[in-house]
Amino acid sequence: MFKIGNVVIKNQIVMAPMAGISNSAYRQIIKEMGAGLVYAEMISDKAIYYQNEKTKKMLTMVENERPIAQQIFGSDVKTMVYAAKYIYQTMQPDIIDINMGCPVPKVAVKSKAGCALMQDEKKAYQIVQAVVNSVPIPVTVKIRSGYDKINAVAIAKICEQAGAKAIAVHPRTKKQGYSGKADWEIIKQVKANVNIPVIGNGDIKSCYDAKKMLKETNCDAVMIGRGLLGNPWLIQECVAYLKNGKEPKPVSAKEKKAMLEYHFNKLKQIKPEKIAILEMRQFALWYVKGISQLKPLKTEIVKMNNQQDFQKIIKLCEERI
Ligand SMILES: Cc1cc2nc3c(=O)[nH]c(=O)nc-3n(C[C@H](O)[C@H](O)[C@H](O)COP(=O)(O)O)c2cc1C
Repeated sequence: MFKIGNVVIKNQIVMAPMAGISNSAYRQIIKEMGAGLVYAEMISDKAIYYQNEKTKKMLTMVENERPIAQQIFGSDVKTMVYAAKYIYQTMQPDIIDINMGCPVPKVAVKSKAGCALMQDEKKAYQIVQAVVNSVPIPVTVKIRSGYDKINAVAIAKICEQAGAKAIAVHPRTKKQGYSGKADWEIIKQVKANVNIPVIGNGDIKSCYDAKKMLKETNCDAVMIGRGLLGNPWLIQECVAYLKNGKEPKPVSAKEKKAMLEYHFNKLKQIKPEKIAILEMRQFALWYVKGISQLKPLKTEIVKMNNQQDFQKIIKLCEERI
């Protein structure tokens, strides 16, 4: 158990924000697996400011996802404050998170947001402070090691001074993107230099990695991203292993097929069926990994277009269990 401001987080396992992945449907599944905290995918401050309907729909969240953090990205104090207030007033998430880690050119170069904020310490401070002052809930910040030069410790301290209540650290620079190995030493350095909770992130693929990161960096919690693609069970494995050393058991093809159906049903509750199907393609490809005679199954998945196609996939899975 740890606390972010006054928000109690029941364990040390946190779901990372992932655009196109961490929507309400998948967050509910992750929460059911026992995650202490889930982060919703990033939302553009400008899109909220200009009342983009598609973006507003992305803010969907349900009660049993709590505690939940909604992440926003932007580089303009006024619109970041507007977005934070709007999200607080309409959705009441438990936490607002500021994205200082996104490396994609559209965000970090064109909008000077995401990881680009790590290059401008003054602006980083102004944005965090303004957002903190605009909502009555805790504000957290998710950072990288740096943009090109490594300044995670300096930025983390600035965020703390500006009123952030926790820092999540993905220790790669913008230039590194997702390549190479996350340098957990930087998480350790950040933790040693701030007095707010630090959430370590990067390359956790198993419950053993989770334990190792906690031990090596002294961080307060671990955040898992790509390890959850097609593998929500990793959450319960981490929770159980940290709690009582319980070893994980392999996930069966039957469980994977059942999760595929469950996930689709959840997605259909928040998105039109056509969109849910298209989004399900990537999740289905991840879920079926490890199911035998994969190739024909994959061929069908990448072209599924409607409910009938989905049922065909389920039937193919059943034949292989
Ligand atoms: C598909 C995808 C989408 C992502 N979207 C976001 C995002 O919206 N906000 C964010 O802060 N990080 C985002 N990230 C980065 C992750 O939150 C995380 O920091 C990164 O994947 C490293 O953790 P991992 O090794 O556990 O995946 C994304 C990563 C992936 C793979």
